[in-house]
Amino acid sequence: MNKSTLLKELFTNLSTTGAVTFSSKALVKKMLSFADFKGAKLIVELGGGDGSITQGIVERMDADAVLLVFEISQNFCTNLEKVFPQDNVHVICDSAENIDQYLDGKKADFIFSSLPLSLIPKSNRHQIYKKSKESVSDSGKFIQICYSYALKFQFANHFSEIKTSFTLKNFPPAFIMVCN
Ligand SMILES: C[S@@+](CC[C@H](N)C(=O)[O-])C[C@H]1O[C@@H](n2cnc3c(N)ncnc32)[C@H](O)[C@@H]1O
Repeated sequence: MNKSTLLKELFTNLSTTGAVTFSSKALVKKMLSFADFKGAKLIVELGGGDGSITQGIVERMDADAVLLVFEISQNFCTNLEKVFPQDNVHVICDSAENIDQYLDGKKADFIFSSLPLSLIPKSNRHQIYKKSKESVSDSGKFIQICYSYALKFQFANHFSEIKTSFTLKNFPPAFIMVCN
């Protein structure tokens, strides 16, 4: 899929994508700067979309690390599988709230999310928080991009420590919440 086809997929599914454009390189760089990839063996991404964050993760992760990318749009999944054919990148066309079903009891070192949480129904959203907390290792981090600071109070129901960061170098400007 070229850039305009990817954007069309984003626009035509606004109620589930929740964005008018994909994350900027500056936002991705800042989000990923909160993770130390050295030694991380299992990494999860929630909401792969066009692969802008996936690309950044793939560039940074160890050769023997495994990346699981959750995405509910079949068109995005098909594209992600083409762009990331590596054996250690697994595109999972399923909702993020089923994360535990794919981990074989293992814990992730990092979970990176660009899910449009404000648009996800409350009960599903809380399952995503709960399962993400349960699926990340004690020393790991759940790192979320979002456009509303208010989400911090929802994360606080599940994570004991939340650091926030902000960047204007994205449209719209975005928060990054680093939770553990
Ligand atoms: C805001 S877009 C982010 C796309 C890309 N990662 C980026 O940063 O530009 C959110 C993505 O999450 C996907 N998504 C929405 N709800 C989801 C869910 N419950 N599970 C997995 N993916 C979901 C959407 O289809 C969309 O591709």
